[in-house]
Amino acid sequence: MKKMICAGNWKLNKNPEESLHFLSQLKESLSPEELKDFAVFMPALSLYTVAQSGVEIPYGPQNVFWQSEGAFTGENSADVAKGMGASLSLVGHSERRQIFGETSEQTAMKVQRSHEAGLLPVLCLGETLEQRESGQTKAVITEQLKKGTEGLDKSQPLWLAYEPVWAIGTGKVATPDQAEEAHAHLRSIMTELFGSDKANATPILYGGSVKPDNSGELSKQSNIDGFLIGGASLKVESFVQIYRNSQS
Ligand code: PGA
Repeated sequence: MKKMICAGNWKLNKNPEESLHFLSQLKESLSPEELKDFAVFMPALSLYTVAQSGVEIPYGPQNVFWQSEGAFTGENSADVAKGMGASLSLVGHSERRQIFGETSEQTAMKVQRSHEAGLLPVLCLGETLEQRESGQTKAVITEQLKKGTEGLDKSQPLWLAYEPVWAIGTGKVATPDQAEEAHAHLRSIMTELFGSDKANATPILYGGSVKPDNSGELSKQSNIDGFLIGGASLKVESFVQIYRNSQS
């Protein structure tokens, strides 16, 4: 049976208490073995409380800055997140790119900083509707991948998350064929950049309106290794059901 990673992206939702409640419910709903396939990206302000609870699920912040300390008002340190038990970081999410103007060059620095701090970066990429409709999908994600991995050594761990911007929070999920085409393309660029061993060892998650009723079909695609889930990761039932439907 294919092992599928289910990573939740809570965005700016849940306070520390709600996060703890969610994680303890999640633990009760899953076997210790299943729990290893889950991850949660939570607001950085909840990391400390979650760390204190000794939770066993891998977690991390939704953004890190590319410097570890200094005069960078309002930013989050990857090292501090690591000290709060984080093992992962989310980098280059489309909301960071679109709302906060983050570039692929900055994303690459965040990937590097994550590694220096001992976090595994999950690099997000994806095209807008306009880019898809004008036939630029492959060119856009190729550039995001090449620039975002600038300076990466193939021994450094990385996950990718393909998230078409038009599918995020819209209820419009990519079809299994559309997602597979993009994932296979990303795998081939990874092969070109880092060799096939690295490309095959890099999980590529799909994100964008993943729900219990579409995770089964998506998971059958050979290059889809898991999901990055926004809205449906806010409730334990739907988060777990996405996973279960992807295992059948
Ligand atoms: P969504 O968000 O599942 O609510 O579409 C996905 C994401 O932004 O990572």
